[in-house]
Amino acid sequence: MTTAQLTSPYQHYVYAYPHKTVYRELEERPLLRDLWAGEAKDALSLYLHIPFCEVRCGFCNLFTRIGAPDGLTGAYLDALERQATAVREALGAGADEVRFATAAFGGGTPTFLTAAELERLCDIAEHRMGADLRAVPLSVEASPATATADRLAVLAERGTTRLSLGIQSFVDAEARAAVRPQRRADVEAALGRIRDTAVPVLNIDLIYGIDGQTEQTWLHSLDAALAWRPEELYLYPLYVRPGTGLDRRTPDPGPDPAWDEQRLRLYRVGRDHLLAHGYTQQSMRMFRRTDAPPQGADDYACQTDGMIGLGCGARSYTRALHYSFDYAVGMQQIRGIIDDYVTTDDFTHAEFGHAMEDHDESRRRHLLQSLLQAEGLQVADYRARFGGAPADDFGPELERFADRGWLTDADPTTLRLTPEGLAHSDAIGPELFSPAVRAAMAEYDRK
Ligand SMILES: C[S@@+](CC[C@H](N)C(=O)[O-])C[C@H]1O[C@@H](n2cnc3c(N)ncnc32)[C@H](O)[C@@H]1O
Ligand code: SF4
Repeated sequence: MTTAQLTSPYQHYVYAYPHKTVYRELEERPLLRDLWAGEAKDALSLYLHIPFCEVRCGFCNLFTRIGAPDGLTGAYLDALERQATAVREALGAGADEVRFATAAFGGGTPTFLTAAELERLCDIAEHRMGADLRAVPLSVEASPATATADRLAVLAERGTTRLSLGIQSFVDAEARAAVRPQRRADVEAALGRIRDTAVPVLNIDLIYGIDGQTEQTWLHSLDAALAWRPEELYLYPLYVRPGTGLDRRTPDPGPDPAWDEQRLRLYRVGRDHLLAHGYTQQSMRMFRRTDAPPQGADDYACQTDGMIGLGCGARSYTRALHYSFDYAVGMQQIRGIIDDYVTTDDFTHAEFGHAMEDHDESRRRHLLQSLLQAEGLQVADYRARFGGAPADDFGPELERFADRGWLTDADPTTLRLTPEGLAHSDAIGPELFSPAVRAAMAEYDRK
């Protein structure tokens, strides 16, 4: 690694540890029934993945394809239903101790589905999986063009509590530069339709670091978003990932200190603007309106609890194994994986994954997912789970972060990042990856 790479604040967005690129085909294909046998199942989270979009945005490396030829969405929902039936059976169909504490539909773009298909998606979550969608937080991702009144009506009626809208920029030229074709007028109309529904939380995604974006245009986008008083805002630094449209257009020339500086400057401008407008920072990317009603399940802890992912891009987590199906970024391979998924009949085994109990991965995951939140890590929670303090397991790393001024020492019960530490979240995360995860990610990137 070069010095510039080491010092770049923009190395890797760690939204889940480890990244799916480290999952490998599981030779023994463990039975889901065995994997879930010893797990606590009374506060699970349910995630349904819809891998379809109207366009492929230039920055996006998510598992999704453009459009769906005739009948593909129906065949996908059929497969989802078969998978849900098999997974529920593996959890213990009808067992009282199975309960979902949160649910989410993500993608891709779940609202690519028609209103009738969204009804069916909710039916699968409720009737096949047993999730009580109206009683738990339900988050749904949408794009402006697909956030139509009929779809939003279904989602609101079925219990959606949070609607997350990808906007990226309110400046049409910036949206074009990010290869995200959309018009401001259509974005505003979508926001109006969402506010007309009874969904209590609106989240808006914005991106900074786009070609041609300035401090002034960034503030313009932020103010346009604030005009809707969203309960949540996610501010994403732009990344140009291998295999994406932006990468094909301008191949990554390597570390770019000027771009890093621009993103860091825009980050600070954005953060300070939102803090001055009544928002509280939850993590490097996430801001919540301070007077918004509290959201989220009271009894779900993302560091520890199990997740059931359905659909061919979704992951599932037990304590011992994180698993999913095959993963790709290239269009051709993604289509192949979706085509295989829709013809699958046997969903009783885990196919691709990464063992969590070997290589102390659970400790790393707990540390990463707590430390990168503004509220930090409770040392007592870590001790209760793993028997020692974080400093016993990650002494040198934590010392390094403290030397760089990224850790506060104000409160010995909590390991918490300073504002500069939060700004460098995407550099902190990768330093906590295990050697095995680092090697597997590098191997994937070389392919
Ligand atoms: C699943 S999408 C949101 C929903 C919907 N598909 C849409 O685009 O409107 C997830 C979000 O991640 C962010 N994102 C994805 N890839 C990114 C990248 N390379 N750089 C910065 N932000 C990115 C975008 O803000 C995007 O809205
Ligand atoms: S950003 Fe959203 S709409 Fe664009 S390709 Fe990715 S998932 Fe699809």
